[in-house]
Amino acid sequence: MRVLVVGAGGREHALAKKLAQSPALTELFVAPGNAGTAEIATNVPIEAMDLDGLLAFVRAERIDLVIPGPEGPLVAGLTDRMAAAGVRCVGPTAAAAQLEGSKAFTKAVADEAGIPTARWERFDDAAAAHAFIRSRGAPIVIKADGLAGGKGVVVARTTDEAIAAATLALQDGPVVVEECLTGPEVSLFALCNGTDAVLLGTARDHKRVGDGDTGPNTGGMGAVAPVPGFDGMAALDVFVRPALRVMAGRGTPFRGILFAGLMLTSGGPRLIEYNVRFGDPECQALLPLLATDLLTLLLSACESGEGGRGLLTPAWLPGASCAIVMAARGYPGVLDPDASAITGLGDHVYHGATRRQDGRQDGRLVAAGGRVLTVVGTGPDAAAARMQAYASVAQVVWPGGFYRSDIGGGHG
Ligand code: AMP
Ligand code: GLY
Repeated sequence: MRVLVVGAGGREHALAKKLAQSPALTELFVAPGNAGTAEIATNVPIEAMDLDGLLAFVRAERIDLVIPGPEGPLVAGLTDRMAAAGVRCVGPTAAAAQLEGSKAFTKAVADEAGIPTARWERFDDAAAAHAFIRSRGAPIVIKADGLAGGKGVVVARTTDEAIAAATLALQDGPVVVEECLTGPEVSLFALCNGTDAVLLGTARDHKRVGDGDTGPNTGGMGAVAPVPGFDGMAALDVFVRPALRVMAGRGTPFRGILFAGLMLTSGGPRLIEYNVRFGDPECQALLPLLATDLLTLLLSACESGEGGRGLLTPAWLPGASCAIVMAARGYPGVLDPDASAITGLGDHVYHGATRRQDGRQDGRLVAAGGRVLTVVGTGPDAAAARMQAYASVAQVVWPGGFYRSDIGGGHG
C-alpha cells in the first residue's frame, strides 16, 4: 500500500514511524515532512494546505491512502477532494470537520446529542455580546467561532476583559460566549468510521509554556498517557457516539480521528471542544503504546460500509508514556535566532520543526520553528515513563532549546 502522510510536525513523524513498521506498507511519503520523516520516508515538497498540489501528487504517484495530521486541510476539504479522485483519506469531509472548524457548530451538535458541555451563546453583534457578558458576569470564556490555531480562546477573569476580548474577536467573525468551567482536562481520542468508534487512548496535555503551568498557552509542551483513573471506554458513550449519531443523521457522517477535549468538573466531565485529528504532542505519547498495526487500524475506519471488515479494536501495550516537547527559545513568541546543531537524539525522539542545514542530507540538524522535538519515554507506570523521558532529554545537545521540567509531575 502506498501511503501519504500530510503535515510537518512531531505528530506526523510519530505517525510515519509507526506506519513504516507496517507489513502492508510498500511506500511512504510525507508532505512536506521534516528532517526526521526524511530518514524513514520520502519527503515531498508540498505544503499541507496546497490541496491542488496534494491531489496532483496522489494521482501521479497512485497513492492508496492519505493520512492527514493537521486540521487545516480537512476543514478546507482534503477528504472531499481525495474522495472525488477515488482515494481514501483517514479524516472527515469538510462538512464533518466543522466539529473543529466552528465552535458554534460543535456546541449545537453537543446540545442536539445531549452531550454535557458549558452553557453558551453565539453572537455576531458587539452590543448583544456585551449585554450578555454583563448579565452573566466573570469569569467567562470568549471564543472566536472559526479556526484560530489555538489562539482563539480567552478565559476572562473580569467582565471588562471579556468585553474587550469579544470586541476584538468580533472584528474577525462571530464569537461564542461560554460559561467558565474549572477542573483538570483530559484529551480523549477515538477512531470513527461514521457510525461507530474505538478508543485510541486518553492523554493529558500541558498547554502552558512554563513550569507549574505558568506563561502563555502553546500548542502543547508535553503529554502523558493514559490519564490515570479516567475511563476512556465509558467516555466514548457520552462524548463520541452521540455526536456520531447526530452527524450521521444530518447526512454528514464523521470518519477519522475525533479528539474530544474534556474538563473534569465537580459536576462531572464536560465537553470543551472537538478536534478532528490527533493532538500534538498527544499522538507522540500514544503511538508508542499501540500494539496493533497502525496502517491496518486506520484503514479499517475507511472500509466499513463498503463490505469491509469493520472498525478494528486496537490492542495496547501495558504501561504509560510521557512526551516532552523541546522548543526553540522564545516560543510561543518571537523565536531567538538559533543555528546551533542538534545532536544526541536517541530512539523515540520525534522531529517537529527541524531541517538539515544547506538542505543536504548530511547537513547539521537545526531548528526550523517553535516546537522542534518531542522526546518520549515509556515504562510500566507513569513515574517510570517520565524518568525515561527526562533521561532521553538529558542526552539531547541543543543550546538553543528549552523544555518544561514538570511534565507528568502533577501539573496539567
Ligand atoms: P481550545 O482553543 O478550544 O482548545 O481551548 C483552549 C483552552 O481554553 C482549553 O484547553 C481550556 O483550558 C480553556 N477553555 C476552553 N473553554 C473553556 C471553558 N468553557 N471554561 C474554562 N476553560 C475553557
Ligand atoms: N496538543 C493539543 C492539540 O493538538 O490541539
